[in-house]
Amino acid sequence: MSLLYRTILRPAVFLQDSEKAHSRILSILSSISSSRFSLSMLGALYRSPELPVKLFNLDFPNPIGVAAGMDKNGSAVPSWQSIGYGFCEIGGVTFHEQPGNPKPRMFRATKDKALINRMGFNNIGAHALQEKLQFWKDRGLWPDSPVGINLGKSKVTPLEDAPSDYAGSIKILWKDADFFVINVSSPNTPGLRDLQESRNLESIIKRCCEINKECSKEGKSTEKPLLVKIAPELDDGFLEDIVKLVNEYHLSGIVATNTTIDRPETKHSSSQRIFSEVGGLSGAPLKAKSTDMIRKVYKLTNGKIPIVGVGGILTADDAWEKITAGASILQLYTGIVFEGPSIAKNIVKGLNKRLKSEGFESISDAVGINA
Ligand SMILES: Cc1cc2nc3c(=O)[nH]c(=O)nc-3n(C[C@H](O)[C@H](O)[C@H](O)COP(=O)(O)O)c2cc1C
Repeated sequence: MSLLYRTILRPAVFLQDSEKAHSRILSILSSISSSRFSLSMLGALYRSPELPVKLFNLDFPNPIGVAAGMDKNGSAVPSWQSIGYGFCEIGGVTFHEQPGNPKPRMFRATKDKALINRMGFNNIGAHALQEKLQFWKDRGLWPDSPVGINLGKSKVTPLEDAPSDYAGSIKILWKDADFFVINVSSPNTPGLRDLQESRNLESIIKRCCEINKECSKEGKSTEKPLLVKIAPELDDGFLEDIVKLVNEYHLSGIVATNTTIDRPETKHSSSQRIFSEVGGLSGAPLKAKSTDMIRKVYKLTNGKIPIVGVGGILTADDAWEKITAGASILQLYTGIVFEGPSIAKNIVKGLNKRLKSEGFESISDAVGINA
């Protein structure tokens, strides 16, 4: 962590309510995103060294991405690459615009480097997101690195109509995304995790695949990679069913994992208070659980289905652990909050060193070696 962030910026940011601080930082990044000069200044400070990965037929300048939830409305798309990220996942977006749950709904457990959130997919909706993404494209500010879109179900849509809700968002956003993530694992939309159950998930995947095919025909282009994002507490039977569906429908990968509804032991009384809040927990206490899930998925699929690893990555060692457990690329959310803007660059630097010291030529050579 940079000294400046640790000693001055972080204490100032942490004096504010966590959602307010997040919104303020995003609006700063949004302003920076509109100016090529500001983007290049940001890049001079934070851009990561090269560590290319090819996956889903896409070129990732490095394997560290911004996780879903960080930039729900595509407000800062051009800036993520300048702050060192090799890709970003925008959203979760829902077909209908929605306000999310009542505030407060995001809480910091600073001593445990963890967050609890029950945002409930607050977002501007698929149409408005499309306009925002078009805005960046029209100004020539679209990044060179891949941009994924995370899809959630609108709260007003009944569970049985979930397939058309997800597919509707894909149709609107199809030409703007390099890949889509079907998120059925957020704990904050009533009943959403029930969609991980095989029959429910199959109808969603089927409809998303159909719309993907239709859009690719219309756009005279190849189909977009579709991935599914899973919860860390998914039981073995459900996981096996999901892997079967991923194989049957030729999905491109699995994102593991979302936040957890479990609460770890903590010796810090300030964290105990935060951990009693309802919602999904992310950050350091999620790390081992999410790595275990990555390892499980890797073994179950014999390493044949790419895994996007996410959950509690704060350092290059955490990132290495996830890669060697089976993840091909990685994402961060809570680490960005606690470690600041240099986290991506520091992790990429650390991974480069680790590859050299372990005698590997590329990240893909290290994927799953400790699975
Ligand atoms: C405030 C907040 C909002 C989130 N929103 C979403 C979301 O909309 N869709 C999603 O799939 N995951 C969402 N996530 C989960 C993250 O993408 C990630 O899977 C999780 O936080 C674990 O990673 P981390 O420990 O690096 O934060 C959210 C997480 C946080 C903290």
